Amino acid sequence: MSSESLYKESREIFPGGVNSPVRFYEPYPRFISSASGSRIYDADGREYVDHCLAFGPLILGHGNQKVRKALQSQMERGILFGAPSEGEIQLGKAIREAIPSIEMMRFTNSGTEATMHALRLARHHTGRDLILKVSGGFHGAHDMSLSAAPYKPDTDPSRYSTLEVAFNDIPGLETVFRNLGQRIAAFITEPVLGNVGVVPPDPEFLKASRELTSDSGSILIFDEVITGFRSSYGGYQNMVGVKPDMTTLGKIIGGGLPVGMFGGRRDIMEDVAPSGTFYQQGTFSGSPLAMAAGYATLQELKNTDYAGISSYVTKFGDEIVDFAGQKNMDIQFNRSGTMFTVFFNNREITDGAAALRSRTDLYTRFFNTILNNGVFIPKSQFEACFTSSVHTLDDLGKVVEASRNSLKSIS
Ligand SMILES: Cc1ncc(COP(=O)(O)O)c(C=O)c1O
Repeated sequence: MSSESLYKESREIFPGGVNSPVRFYEPYPRFISSASGSRIYDADGREYVDHCLAFGPLILGHGNQKVRKALQSQMERGILFGAPSEGEIQLGKAIREAIPSIEMMRFTNSGTEATMHALRLARHHTGRDLILKVSGGFHGAHDMSLSAAPYKPDTDPSRYSTLEVAFNDIPGLETVFRNLGQRIAAFITEPVLGNVGVVPPDPEFLKASRELTSDSGSILIFDEVITGFRSSYGGYQNMVGVKPDMTTLGKIIGGGLPVGMFGGRRDIMEDVAPSGTFYQQGTFSGSPLAMAAGYATLQELKNTDYAGISSYVTKFGDEIVDFAGQKNMDIQFNRSGTMFTVFFNNREITDGAAALRSRTDLYTRFFNTILNNGVFIPKSQFEACFTSSVHTLDDLGKVVEASRNSLKSIS
């Protein structure tokens, strides 16, 4: 069946025809029938170089052989036990060795669950109510993340459960902590924003967030669902030398299977049932298949040339910025290691508000043309593009040519 007819069936069953809104685009999404390495194939027989990579988990590309083998071997031994199994310890130890701030952890089935429970736990542990996040930061689809109000000096904190500050705004952060520090249970931030497109941090902002949370007794949570094991083996926190109290992970640590994790300081994590009174559970948590795929992925990543993957992004950035310059087009190429975003914007983008001022109309045209030229990227200006260890110079050539065609069609 073609994508078009599959979509017609799908929209009768699922809202908007999809099981996650980021997958929909006009006039209908291309349905994917298979994937291998750096490529995906749609139901209409077309091939694409994939720079969406399932929104991040597939840093080894599609169908890595070691991951498939680990899954096959686990399937022979059982799919789900509802009881502890050794695979959880294997993956847990690998994570703890790579990110030492995570002294204890609990696995969940998605990043949304991980951040939701991390924030609930922070409230439980501190006995405080307020959550502080960064505007443009995304921590999954739950109310503590989605319903947030920007902090202003006259904000009545009793009306809100989550307040926001601008990313990279150290004076702004200082003001909130000066005025409300004693009420803030947790400050949660992605170390690199990834959900308004890629926005790298001023490392001083992350350092200030550490100092201010420590001084006020609030819990600092780094949401590394995207950045974990993304640009080096470990967390982004290792790269900037800032140690949060808690960390959330997802995506890469499941090797393509559903997973999440919240963890951190032992004294906080020991509050979690059954060792403590904070209740959290999950039928599928620590799923043997996810543990096996995640562990195989981390083993592969230990020997992965992250600098090589990042240099693909640098080369692509150089090409596209150069070509846009020739066409007198305003773009910003933001990148962090193996992830990147092409913003249609004439100003440097250092926070969520600046990202949101981008020309989404131009991005949509760019997306449609690049898609028709055989390159698959997220449909939204405000999602990150990802690359993998199996993308080649041949892929890069195709992506550069498709990008040039797309920019030409807009200019
Ligand atoms: C930083 C961040 N946190 C949390 C989530 C939620 O993760 P999931 O989609 O696995 O629920 C996402 C999803 O993209 C994310 O980017």
